[in-house]
Amino acid sequence: MALSGAGSGFGRRTTTALAVLALTLGVTGGVVVAAGGSDDEQALAPSRKPASQGIEHKVDVLLAKMTTEEKLQQVQLLSDGQITDADAKAGVGSVFSLVDPEKINHFQHLAVEESRLGIPILFAYDTIHGYRTIFPVPLGAASSFDPKVAAADHEVGAKESALVGLKQIYSPMVDVSHEPRWGRIVEGAGEDPYLNSVMAAARVKAAQGTDYSAPDKVVTSVKHYVAYGQPEGGRDYNTTDMSEQRLRNIYLPPFKAAIDAGSDTVMCSFNAINGLPGCANTYTETDILKDEWGFDGFVESDYTAVAELRACPGVPNDNFPCGHQVAADAPSAAAMALMAGTDSEMVSKYLVTYGEELLDQGRITMARLDDAVRRILRVKFRAGLFDNPYVDVAKALDPASFGKPADLQAARDAAARSMVLLKNAGEPAPLPLDPDKTTAVIGPFGDDGPDMLGGWSGRGDDDLAPDPVTLVEGLRAQSNAEVTFTQACNRVNTFDPPNNANPPLDPEDEVCADDSGFDEAVTAATDAEQVVLALGETREMSSEANARSDLDLPGMQEELLEAVAETGKPVVVVLFNGRPLALPRVAASADAILEAWYPGTEAGNAAADVLYGVVNPGGKLPVTFPRKVGTVPLYYNHEPTGRPCSPTFKWNSRYRDLDTCKPLYEFGFGLSYTTFDVSAPALNKTSVKPDGKVRVRIDVTNTGSVTGDEVVQMYLHDPVASISQPVKRLRGFQRVTLGAGESTTVTFTLDKSDFGFWDNSGEYVVEPGEIEVYSGSSSELVSAAKTFTIT
Ligand code: BGC
Repeated sequence: MALSGAGSGFGRRTTTALAVLALTLGVTGGVVVAAGGSDDEQALAPSRKPASQGIEHKVDVLLAKMTTEEKLQQVQLLSDGQITDADAKAGVGSVFSLVDPEKINHFQHLAVEESRLGIPILFAYDTIHGYRTIFPVPLGAASSFDPKVAAADHEVGAKESALVGLKQIYSPMVDVSHEPRWGRIVEGAGEDPYLNSVMAAARVKAAQGTDYSAPDKVVTSVKHYVAYGQPEGGRDYNTTDMSEQRLRNIYLPPFKAAIDAGSDTVMCSFNAINGLPGCANTYTETDILKDEWGFDGFVESDYTAVAELRACPGVPNDNFPCGHQVAADAPSAAAMALMAGTDSEMVSKYLVTYGEELLDQGRITMARLDDAVRRILRVKFRAGLFDNPYVDVAKALDPASFGKPADLQAARDAAARSMVLLKNAGEPAPLPLDPDKTTAVIGPFGDDGPDMLGGWSGRGDDDLAPDPVTLVEGLRAQSNAEVTFTQACNRVNTFDPPNNANPPLDPEDEVCADDSGFDEAVTAATDAEQVVLALGETREMSSEANARSDLDLPGMQEELLEAVAETGKPVVVVLFNGRPLALPRVAASADAILEAWYPGTEAGNAAADVLYGVVNPGGKLPVTFPRKVGTVPLYYNHEPTGRPCSPTFKWNSRYRDLDTCKPLYEFGFGLSYTTFDVSAPALNKTSVKPDGKVRVRIDVTNTGSVTGDEVVQMYLHDPVASISQPVKRLRGFQRVTLGAGESTTVTFTLDKSDFGFWDNSGEYVVEPGEIEVYSGSSSELVSAAKTFTIT
C-alpha cells in the first residue's frame, strides 16, 4: 500500500524520472512494468518537497511586519458574495467561488496596491472534474483504474482554472465511502483506500506540477478531512463514529497520499468524528496531519463549519448555522477551531471579529495565530502570487482559451476509459453496436446535455464552455444509418427545492413520472434494428446534500425498460448516475448494460466510441453494486466474522429474505468485448523480513479476438492477525492494453506498507506470519492464493 498513513519510510520507492517510461510501456506485449514500477506505484511515489529556505525567510520577514488585525484578516476566507473593497484593502486572506476575472483583478489590485502590506489574495474554486472542459465525475474516473485519467483531468482543470485567476482548487475529494445512499460518493474514488490514494496522488501531482507557481498550475486542497464519507444513514453531514484502526487503515490513507504527493492545503470536514467535528479536531488536524505527517501547508474550514461548532440557537444569533454543540458561542467556536489546527475560516467571520479579545483572554495564543498565518503565507509564496498576482483578463474571457481540441480529446478518452460494461449477453451479444444498422435511442437521458456533466461541474454550463455532447448526438456522429430519439418520459432538473427545504424532493416525480410516452417508445424500438435505452439519475440526485433512501432507478424507468424489452429486440441500457445503484430489475431485462456515470463534456462521443467498439470498454467498478438498499453498507474489503454469510444456514450473518450473500456486481468488476486470462501470482520469495520486499509477477493474456484492456488486480489478505483483517485488500493494479492473443507480465513490489496494518492504539504493525496474495480481474474473480511468510 505505499504511504497510506504509514510514516514516510513506508512508501514504495520508485523514481518519478521513470514515469514517462512507464507511460510508453503498458500498452503492448512484453513486460509491462519495467524498473519504474506499475502505474499505481508511479502515482504514489512521494514528491513532497521540503520547505525552501528562501520562502521561509520571506514569510518570517513579512510576518514580523504584520499587526494582529492583519494576521486575523489573513486567516479569513470569504465567498464571492461576501468580499467587499474594504475587505481587500484590509488584507483579507482568501476568496472562493469568485470566477469573474475582472472582479478577481479588481480585488487583487486593491489587496496588492491599497492594503498596508500588499499581500495578494488567494482565489479558490471547486474545480473537481474540470473547470470548463468537464471530465467524468471522480467516481467514474476511478472506474478507469488508470491514474493517467485522473491526471489528465486535473492537468486540464488546473490550466483552465489558473487562466481566470484562480490559484487554489478544492480538490481532490478523497473520501473513501461505503455509503451509496450518500450523494457525495460521486465526488471520490469509491470504497477502496488504495484506489482512492492512487487517484488522489495523481490528481495532486497533475494540478500542482513540480512547482505550482507555474501559470498553468494551482495548489490543491484535499478534502474533506476526515472520514466524511461514512455518515450514519448515508445522510450528508451526519455523525461518523469509528475505531482508530478503521480511521487509519481506510479513511486516512488517501489524505496521506495526497500530502505525500505535495498537496499544500487541506479542507477540514463538517462531520463529527467520534464526537469531535473535523474542524475542531486536534487529533486529526494537528497530531496526525501536521505533527505526524509533517504537513506545512494550511487547513481551511469547510463552509461555515466553524459556526456549526456552536450550540443552537447560535450566539450571536447570526445567519450562520449551529448545531454540533461543542462550543457555547462564536468566540468559543473560533478559539476551538484555531487551537485544534484550522488555519483559515470559511464564510463565518469569528476569528477576525473576536480574535483580539480571544488573545487578550488567553483563549488563543499568538504562537498559534502566527503559525496559521505562516502556513497561509507559505502557500501564497509557493504559488508565486507575490510575483504574479494578476490575471490576463483578455485571455480569461476568450472562448478559445477553453475546451481546446486536445483537452476535449483528453476528456473524451478519459470518459471512454471510465465506462464499465456490466452485462453483454446473447448470441450474438448486442454490443458493440453495428453502425450500419438503424438505432432507436430511448429514454430521459438520451438527448440530455446538462446531466452529462454531473454535479460539481465547475463552469461547464456557462457561455465560455464547450457544449456537452448528448448520447444521441454522439451516436449519430458515428452511425451510417438512422438514429431516432424518443424521450419516452419526463426529466426534471431541480437543484434547489423551494426554500431549500420543503417539500422533500420525490425522485419518482423527477424522472419518468408516468408511462404516457411508453407506447411511442415501444413503436420506436419495434421500428429500429438496435435499441439503446438511456436511463439514470439526474445530476442533482447526487453530490452535496443529495442523499437518497432508495438505490433503484427513480420513477418508472424500470417499467420503461421492461416495456421496451417485451418487443423482443435486444436492449442496451446506458446508465448515467452518480452512485452505485441496485439494478436487479435492469439486469433481468436488459441484454447489455454500460455504466457510463456522468461522462462530462464529451459524454455522447465517448459513449458512442464504446458502444460502437471503437474503444473496447475496460473500466472496473470502484464500488460494490448491491442488490437492495437494505444491504448497505456492503463492500468487498469488509472484515471477517465468526459467522460469515451463507444463504443456506440460519445462524450466520445473512438476510433471511435474500438467497445470496453476494452483491449484484462486485468491486473491481467489469467486462470487455474480448476475454482475458489472468494468471495466479508468482512470488520471488516465500519468506521475508518485515522491512524486506516481495516481487509479484502476474501474467495476463488476451484470449479473445479483439484488442482490449484488462485491469490486473492484486489483493492481499492476512489470515491470522492480532485484529481481524479485511478479507481482501487491493494492493496493486495495472491497466493494460493487449491485442488478440497477446500476453504480458505485470510486476508489483510489496513492502512493509503492504504487509501490515494500523492497530487500535494508532501504531503501524507488521506481524510475523503468513500473507496471502491473490491476482484477478475483480475482487471475486481471483486466483488461488500464493503465500509468503513474514519472519
Ligand atoms: C463543500 C465543499 C466545498 C465548499 C466550497 C462546501 O459546502 O462541502 O466541498 O469545497 O462548499 O464550495
